[in-house]
Amino acid sequence: MKGIIVAIDGYSSCGKSTLAGDLAKTIKYKHIDSGAMYRAVTLYCLNKGLFIGNRLDEATLREDILQIRIDFIYNETGQSDTYLNGRNVEKEIRSMAVTNNVSPVARIDFVRAALVGQQQAMGKAKGIVMDGRDIGTIVFPDAELKIFVTARIEIRARRRHAELAAKGETVSLEEVIKNLENRDLIDSTRKDGPLRQAADAIVLDNSDMTIEEQNRWLLNIFRDANHKRNT
Ligand code: DC
Repeated sequence: MKGIIVAIDGYSSCGKSTLAGDLAKTIKYKHIDSGAMYRAVTLYCLNKGLFIGNRLDEATLREDILQIRIDFIYNETGQSDTYLNGRNVEKEIRSMAVTNNVSPVARIDFVRAALVGQQQAMGKAKGIVMDGRDIGTIVFPDAELKIFVTARIEIRARRRHAELAAKGETVSLEEVIKNLENRDLIDSTRKDGPLRQAADAIVLDNSDMTIEEQNRWLLNIFRDANHKRNT
């Protein structure tokens, strides 16, 4: 039986990627974390010295963009790692340096056009769970199942803060809240592919849910969607 496309969008630090990755593992679909792709392009810019003070050398990035290759390869634990031009960058793309610089990169039209094209190609064979900001609206407007994830800002900030602390990064909770609010604002007000809930998306507010509860919730929704399609 041919698979479907599951599009999961939502705010930063809502646990979209964990949710998407867990579902993909259970139903044996491919998982693509589209945010990792924007992060990989940002890492490319940082490594190539394209950030000059507050400014980004867009002209050079425009020339390079079609040569930036991003792949996802499953590791021995069953999670997919992000590769930038053949190099495993899964850890580096989660650093504070990348997180603080990714929004201005994700706003650029030619970056979005290139990555959306790659994402659509990855979804051609279906059987895919993709998470991001514009998956149900721009990348796969015809996805069979769309989920929009949200959670209260204090909850998201606490989750992100704990993640950073586990990595040894000492940032105050206030700073994390500011960073999240800023990214939410940039993500939802940009011209191309803004963060928006698709009209036919099902909303999940996971503020008061455990990971197991949200996984169970999504698996039930997925089974319903699949069942409806086959009857
Ligand atoms: O989900 P994340 O925090 O790893 O995403 C990193 C950044 O990439 C985030 O600031 C928003 C942007 N992004 C985007 O613009 N479009 C997507 N489909 C996915 C992420």
